[in-house]
Amino acid sequence: MTALAHRLDEIERSFSPTPLVPVADEKVDLHAKLEFCNPTGSSKDRSAFWILKRAVERGEITSSTTVVESSSGNFAISMSSFCRALGVEFVPVIDPNCNAATEHYLRAACDRVEKVTERDSSGGFLLSRLARVRELETALPGAYWPNQYANADAAEAHFLLTGGEIAGTLGSLDYVFIGVSTGGTVAGLSQRLKKEFPQVKVVAVDTEGSVIFGRAPQARKLPGLGSSIVPPLVATAEIDDVVIVSEHEAVLGCRALLRRSGLFTGGSTGSTYAAMQRYFADRDNSAGRPSALFLCADRGTAYAETVYNDTWVAEALGGETRTSATVAG
Ligand SMILES: Cc1ncc(COP(=O)(O)O)c(C=O)c1O
Repeated sequence: MTALAHRLDEIERSFSPTPLVPVADEKVDLHAKLEFCNPTGSSKDRSAFWILKRAVERGEITSSTTVVESSSGNFAISMSSFCRALGVEFVPVIDPNCNAATEHYLRAACDRVEKVTERDSSGGFLLSRLARVRELETALPGAYWPNQYANADAAEAHFLLTGGEIAGTLGSLDYVFIGVSTGGTVAGLSQRLKKEFPQVKVVAVDTEGSVIFGRAPQARKLPGLGSSIVPPLVATAEIDDVVIVSEHEAVLGCRALLRRSGLFTGGSTGSTYAAMQRYFADRDNSAGRPSALFLCADRGTAYAETVYNDTWVAEALGGETRTSATVAG
């Protein structure tokens, strides 16, 4: 076994199945999969680890490789941690939507952090980040770009790992709500859950201003969900319905989930929870309660100064937060 393969084994041992916990809800038997219990604190640990593992197996990453990737936060955190453990260089390309806590962490963990500041033609930063990645890929000797937007290993991670754990825990499932950015999660998870639970409805959740599901681009403030491109992985997902959530609704979703269940989560989880509440709001449950699942993709800690800060919400999103009505009505 090579030194890199040995270190990958050690990283793999730092993973445990993430908890699947019940969340009280008026309309559905709701389960939350706590992906923030992954080693560096988000669902992106799954795809980052699996992408590295497969690339090492194929000989695309060696100890002299420099991994270069665009990420608004969690993928970069996962990559920087795992690349450190592997002894491989990692250069993240981030943008101003990156949380301050995440940026401080990345600057401490990586020798080089590239931050783009120009918005792209769609009003987002992704195209600017990808352009910088391509420049670095050419300029740095031994550069490897995982391209998380099109890398089938990201989807395989969720098919095998996240999906495998859910299939091994639940006897049946009617609905799953999945936030989308690169599409890796929705691609792998939808394929696995449809295989295990043929009746399951997959509801993809995206944010206003994202172009993934054919809507007009618009500036976004929160990292996590959405994209300025249509990621190729989304085409491989098995999606029944799409719900679009505003960033203000995401904030209310985060706060509602915290107040009702004690789960302290990031913006994408708030979006997914808000989408689910809206989806079932008018449901007549006389024929029984369906079961539903959503992922808590990361913790709220890095969002303390945004999602959980009333001043930021008022200034950045122009919305009230101190409402008891929140998303569920
Ligand atoms: C917190 C969080 N939730 C959801 C997603 C979306 O996952 P995917 O990129 O697999 O579509 C991301 C992606 O970065 C994320 O960081």
